[in-house]
Amino acid sequence: MSEQELMAPSIPRPLLPRQPEVNIGSAGHVDHGKTTTVQAITGVWASAHSEELKRGITIKVGYADAAFYKCSHTPIPAAYSTSPKCPVCGRDTKLLRAVSFVDCPGHESLMTNMLAGAFLMDGALLVIAANEPVPKPQTREHLQALQMLGMKRIVIAQNKVDLVNDSEATKNHAGIEKFVEGTVAEDAPIVPISAQQRLNIDALIEALEEVVPTPKRDLGANPLMYVVRSFDVNRPGAEISALSGGVLGGSLTRGELHVGEEIELRPGMVDERSGKYLPVVTKVASLQTGAGPAEKVGPGGLVAIGTHLDPTFTRGDQMVGSVIGRPGTLPETLEHVTLDVTLLETAVGSAELVKVEKVKLGEMIRLNLGTASTLAVVTSVRGEVVEVDLKKPVAIEMGMRAAISRRIAERWRLIGSGLLK
Ligand code: GTP
Ligand code: MG
Repeated sequence: MSEQELMAPSIPRPLLPRQPEVNIGSAGHVDHGKTTTVQAITGVWASAHSEELKRGITIKVGYADAAFYKCSHTPIPAAYSTSPKCPVCGRDTKLLRAVSFVDCPGHESLMTNMLAGAFLMDGALLVIAANEPVPKPQTREHLQALQMLGMKRIVIAQNKVDLVNDSEATKNHAGIEKFVEGTVAEDAPIVPISAQQRLNIDALIEALEEVVPTPKRDLGANPLMYVVRSFDVNRPGAEISALSGGVLGGSLTRGELHVGEEIELRPGMVDERSGKYLPVVTKVASLQTGAGPAEKVGPGGLVAIGTHLDPTFTRGDQMVGSVIGRPGTLPETLEHVTLDVTLLETAVGSAELVKVEKVKLGEMIRLNLGTASTLAVVTSVRGEVVEVDLKKPVAIEMGMRAAISRRIAERWRLIGSGLLK
């Protein structure tokens, strides 16, 4: 398969009965089985970019969809499945809802991608391997990030139980319980699974159904979409007349978008003369969800918008971090922001816990805002109130929370968060 094909939005087979209405994201340490778990649920391997296949790790935010069904004759948890026919008794099942999975990378160097994915999650699936000591650094750092972003709906998958005996599994389970004590995941169910052997996936679906409700959405509001992937879906060497416009992948947080309507993207593209980012206006040429092509899309679930943009602008995720809406309705593009900062006591992303020092004037930090990530220079510090110049402007809504990272021992580590003032 060519790289272009691998990068194209994956279209699950069979198509979903309706557009996904909720985003559930995976989180957890590298190699603990996030992508395998998403595959066990959806049937889709969400990590198929050529570089990912080569390195065997997830790099970009992946996505896959499934529809959840329940049989009214089979006892739970076996009643839960992703099939319109009960896998146990063969009778017709009831459609509960369609769900999008946002599959995040676990490697310590990819926190920015994880944070972009985490911003779109309505619920999180924290995957922890049963055959490793608890917690590993990114188990801790991802839970920290989820907590910081206000995530309350968490299910823990204790994965790879096929690799441990009963007493090791029990010990590991107790380790997980101790680790989540006092955190936002304190009451999260811990479901033992083997993603590879597809063991107990029905119980995992049951837990997700119970813990992650579909949030109330404002369909009448002006639409707002956050871009988490962007693509050029054309084959190399394709005729110009046959070229498709740039494709933008992400999720709406409110409102609806229709085929044919005008949309604006912010911060947009760099104007070569002024060096400034200028908003771009284009039209929705097509809409695609896990349920296939659509005339309109609403909030929740991952959608792909086909546009009339030159595909070179959307190639290779260049538009990640942009917001999309009707012209004139988007939040302002800012180059300078003021944050009310809350720092963690310790940075938790490495094996050693490092005490977090105060933010300093002139320091370079990294901010994750929505699905955007940018470096920023601190220009003022007054107590907890910190002002920064953004290296890349971001279109942001006031009242949003930014994740703040600092370079510690050659790696970006999460050190706190800041409320935009
Ligand atoms: P990153 O996205 O790179 O952080 O990794 P990941 O958490 O997505 O892990 P992935 O699903 O890629 O799995 C990592 C390795 O663990 C692969 O070789 C999987 O086959 C293996 N694996 C995943 N789940 C299980 C399981 O339940 N049992 C066993 N034995 N192996 C598993
Ligand atoms: Mg993965």
